[in-house]
Amino acid sequence: MSIKTRFLLSYVGVVFISIVLLLVAGFLIIFTITGDTKSIEHFYKKSYVQKPLTTVEESAFLDLKLLAKNNPAQLLNEEQLKKINQKDIGIVVRKDTKIEYASPSLDKQALVKSLPGFEETNINTRDTIKIEDFFFTYVKFDFYFSDKSKGSIFVLRKASSSAELARELFPILFGFLLFLFIMIIGLLNYLVSRSIIKPISLLKEGAKRIKSGDLDFEIIDISNDEIGQLNRTFDEMRIKLKESVKIQLQYEENRKELLSNISHDLKTPITSIIGYVEGIKDGVANTPQKMEKYLSTVYLKAKDMDSLIDELFLFSKLDLKKEPFTFETVELDKYLRDYVEELHIDLFQKGIQIELCHMNKPVFVTADREKLKRVLANLISNCVKYTNEEKASISITLHEGIYDVVVQVTDNGQGIEPSALPFIFDRFYRAEQSRNSLTGGSGLGLAIAKQIIQEHRGDIWATSEIGKGTSVFFTLMKGEEK
Ligand SMILES: Nc1ncnc2c1ncn2[C@@H]1O[C@H](COP(=O)(O)OP(=O)(O)O)[C@@H](O)[C@H]1O
Ligand SMILES: [Mg+2]
Repeated sequence: MSIKTRFLLSYVGVVFISIVLLLVAGFLIIFTITGDTKSIEHFYKKSYVQKPLTTVEESAFLDLKLLAKNNPAQLLNEEQLKKINQKDIGIVVRKDTKIEYASPSLDKQALVKSLPGFEETNINTRDTIKIEDFFFTYVKFDFYFSDKSKGSIFVLRKASSSAELARELFPILFGFLLFLFIMIIGLLNYLVSRSIIKPISLLKEGAKRIKSGDLDFEIIDISNDEIGQLNRTFDEMRIKLKESVKIQLQYEENRKELLSNISHDLKTPITSIIGYVEGIKDGVANTPQKMEKYLSTVYLKAKDMDSLIDELFLFSKLDLKKEPFTFETVELDKYLRDYVEELHIDLFQKGIQIELCHMNKPVFVTADREKLKRVLANLISNCVKYTNEEKASISITLHEGIYDVVVQVTDNGQGIEPSALPFIFDRFYRAEQSRNSLTGGSGLGLAIAKQIIQEHRGDIWATSEIGKGTSVFFTLMKGEEK
């Protein structure tokens, strides 16, 4: 059974029961206030039965009254009375308690019981009485017969009986109730449908669309009730799902790009190795000098490939979180001093100066010594690679924060275009896209540095100015001194 039908049935039940209860309550209230049900009859009499007599009846009454005043004996004359009594008029002549004459439509015995008594003053001449089940409006005149017995004449007009009235009123009342009934149910149905069924069908529609893979719609529900909240939560779910699908697609895209980049970067050296080896095979390298040149090129290309594969391997292990880290407390200034000393001669031979601006006190950080070396090596190799100065120089500076230490590696090289700056930490990204082997590099150096620093729960970023130089910063968490 649908919710709609269930609601509809419950309204019908509720409205029906309320109407029955209302009727019972109304009856009980009248009963408790008045003590009996007769008063309902009284109320009915007062409000419905006070109908005046017709002119024909009035004139018949005047005729009878005239007779009663002038010649009461004539009132016992049936012929005379029949003359006055025309169709449908109720006439009664009473002598003492005996009904001398009554129109054929009236029941004499009932009249004896019901008609009002004699009243010499003739004050209450008009009223309503109930004879058996019927109400009658009457007009009365009391007088004395010549033998001093009490006489009364009545002209009666039948009002509709209470049962008849009820019968008359019932279809109207029933129709009205039915109308009310339908109206109330319609209204309730409209209200519930608007506040419950519509939002639910909205939700159903939304779920259907999601099932079919459509996430580009919005469930708009402004109501603040539970169903409104449900719809809003559902819409939030849709947004989350859409985002995750988008991320998924982006991952897929990245994976494809990665694969094509790897293929490209491996293909280039392999092609030239094949070229040189073929040259040797075909006897192009016909002098020892040429042979030496060809072989050393092949060797260099193979070494390039080797280091590229190493970098790729490391990057993928870091990416998959498969590379183990051994964190320890490192006295950073001492560590950097040793590192710079190691590099010094190598760089000196290339005509590059390196200096360390360390602090005058020991600084401890938590780090993996080997991985940290890898980060520094990647940064310094960039400084070396992208220099264009005669007097190239590199400086490493330490800044102490509350919880961390910032390491700054600065060069006075060519700098990075501002448009390229946000991407240099992306894998395979290289500011000049030519991928020539002159500057070498896979575009993985900074991506690897970023992975390692993130694993240290640190940050890495860069600032640069074209022609002036580049600074790369990274943070390391402070460690406990042992
Ligand atoms: N010190 C630097 N000076 C100028 N450009 C730099 C510097 N460091 C990085 N870059 C730019 O960022 C890119 C990405 O660096 P990296 O990830 O190390 O890749 P690769 O060195 O293999 O090209 C480089 O190609 C280069 O364009
Ligand atoms: Mg590099």
